Amino acid sequence: MQTLFTGRNIINLYEVDSTNAYAQNLVKTGTPAEGTVIIAEHQAQGRGQRGTAWQTEPGKNLTCSIILKPGFLAPRDTFMLNKMASLAVFDFLSYYPVADISVKWPNDVYVYGKKIAGILIENTWRESILAWSIVGIGININQTAFGEFDATSLKAATGNDYDIDDCLQQLCKCLEARYLQLRSDRNNIDREYKENLFGLGEKRRFMVNNREITGMIKGVNRAGELVLETGEMLLHCDLKEVVFLR
Ligand code: BTN
Repeated sequence: MQTLFTGRNIINLYEVDSTNAYAQNLVKTGTPAEGTVIIAEHQAQGRGQRGTAWQTEPGKNLTCSIILKPGFLAPRDTFMLNKMASLAVFDFLSYYPVADISVKWPNDVYVYGKKIAGILIENTWRESILAWSIVGIGININQTAFGEFDATSLKAATGNDYDIDDCLQQLCKCLEARYLQLRSDRNNIDREYKENLFGLGEKRRFMVNNREITGMIKGVNRAGELVLETGEMLLHCDLKEVVFLR
């Protein structure tokens, strides 16, 4: 592994409920090394954002959680982890290479307007210190059928098959590089996240608190809220309040 600490310790599982849940248990019951990775071929109860499920075909995709200790981040900067992880997945896809990648707020990754990866970050606080952060990442790699979901994969985008272990190595490199950048060069993480934000500056339809609106994405504020311009107004929306419409 060509990294300093990410993926130096890998827990390889055939089947688990959720790699995030497994990682949560590790940080509750011990002190795993920073950069420990839990990877599974199959998750019986993979978790997504907003309490949704993350279901993918066993053995075909990258399904992993990385344990970090970002005690250097102030509570009000926690969303920087979402930006950092989104850009790590962006870099991962750029390596293969894949074109037309964008990060969809808060932390999905899209290729040609279709979802290719999802990220679920779960934080553990000790008083006001961010003691642990579990960065759960699901990337569609060799799966090509998605049922009713408008999704894509590395294989669908490039026509090639990939070795999941090689993909994990590449992801660990990308994540570590962005995590180190987070310590020293936050401004560029902010800038690149915004530059690659899905729908930035486009007029789109959204449901905000169950009301349909047309608005333009202006960016994401420090608290991680999506900033939408509608007419003369700026709306600051959190994940529970807003749904993107087609
Ligand atoms: C989403 O798009 O809603 C986020 C999906 C996150 C899925 C990954 S797969 C590995 C890790 N373990 C989980 O249970 N979820 C994350």
